[in-house]
Amino acid sequence: MPHCHPEQITIIPSLSRDPIPSKMEKCIIVAIADNNAIGKDNALLWHISEDLKFFKRTTMGCPVIMGRKTFESIGRPLPKRQNIVISRGFDAPEGVVVVSSLEDAYMAASSVMSSEVETSPARCFIMGGGQIYAQAMPDMDRLIVTHVHTVIEDADTFFPPVDPSVWIVESRSEMYHDEESGFDFEFVEYVKR
Ligand SMILES: NC(=O)c1ccc[n+]([C@@H]2O[C@H](COP(=O)([O-])OP(=O)(O)OC[C@H]3O[C@@H](n4cnc5c(N)ncnc54)[C@H](OP(=O)(O)O)[C@@H]3O)[C@@H](O)[C@H]2O)c1
Repeated sequence: MPHCHPEQITIIPSLSRDPIPSKMEKCIIVAIADNNAIGKDNALLWHISEDLKFFKRTTMGCPVIMGRKTFESIGRPLPKRQNIVISRGFDAPEGVVVVSSLEDAYMAASSVMSSEVETSPARCFIMGGGQIYAQAMPDMDRLIVTHVHTVIEDADTFFPPVDPSVWIVESRSEMYHDEESGFDFEFVEYVKR
């Protein structure tokens, strides 16, 4: 399984204009309700600690790309991952890379080097929110989805439909139950057909 190197990340100061290395797998990571809801009032719809642990384990050491609103909803950079924020104008805290397009985000991600292996990271993660998922979907190699089996009627942010003519399920976990929220959930990975 591709992995990144959490302890040894540096980012090359100026963004390389070299082509994005094809071996860097672009992944979306998201938790989706059965009606595709993902957020409300710039916050998540649930607190499922096993899903948060899964997110941390999966993204650790890898570049994470997010929209400005998602960054603000978290309120701080995620540790041990290069945080790349997409915005048309945002004064980000030190250490956070701000870019103005998805293409620049991918280039920034591919410029993150591990001093251990001196290659680009194996994976980068698009981690929301709704605007960024919708724009990034066509570029993705893999969707890492937590399906949360509930319907949130009053959500204001949604994930785009996962078109079965484009995406095929590569793996599906067992079904889990979260005591705190009362929701069943499962981890599903999709790759392009
Ligand atoms: N369930 C999940 O897994 C999950 C994951 C992440 C987020 N969420 C939820 O999603 C919601 C936030 O999503 P959102 O759609 O409102 O916001 P978002 O996608 O996080 O961020 C939107 C912002 O990104 C920037 N942006 C978008 N497209 C751009 C482009 N083409 N070029 C330059 N900048 C661009 C703009 O920032 P500026 O306005 O600064 O220009 C825009 O306001 C929250 O409720 C959050 O909790 C859910």
